[in-house]
Amino acid sequence: MTNLQLTLSILKPFITRNPYARKTIREFIKENNFKIVQSTTTKLTKSLAAKFYEEHQGKFFYNRLQTFMCSGPIDVYILAGDDVITRWRKLLGPTRVYKAVYSHPDSIRSLFGLSDTRNVCHGSDSEESAKREIGIFFSDFNVDRWLEENKKL
Ligand code: RTP
Ligand code: MG
Repeated sequence: MTNLQLTLSILKPFITRNPYARKTIREFIKENNFKIVQSTTTKLTKSLAAKFYEEHQGKFFYNRLQTFMCSGPIDVYILAGDDVITRWRKLLGPTRVYKAVYSHPDSIRSLFGLSDTRNVCHGSDSEESAKREIGIFFSDFNVDRWLEENKKL
């Protein structure tokens, strides 16, 4: 393992109601040798969504993103793996679904996305974001300790 990382992945509301998509995404996770370290199914409150998406507050898409993310259950995973942050985002494909369909047709967002808001999954964009986002959903999980212990293996 050269660059063991953790990332936070979310399967967004409409996807958790689609068993085929859920199963396929879990297969992508396995095929890419990512490990699900922790997982939970939950429903976001408005205030938790606001905390999670604080960097986007004030942007034109913020209100619909917040409303959508609170509209149903989400699956939340801590994924571990070699370069998992960029590799998971690569599997997701571009943020905008119409772009994903043309430029990355086999990506998760191309396969299952419905719109720029309903773009299937979230993936942390840096080690710092991953740590912050993991803390929001798994407050007892110690990112630094987990990495230190597992990098030795
Ligand atoms: P994510 O955070 O979900 O992993 O995706 P990302 O880094 O590729 O995209 P980001 O810029 O962080 O945007 C967060 C989420 O906001 C919604 N969004 N809608 N033009 C739009 O309508 C628009 N732009 C962004 C998407 O759900 C995006 O994943
Ligand atoms: Mg982002």
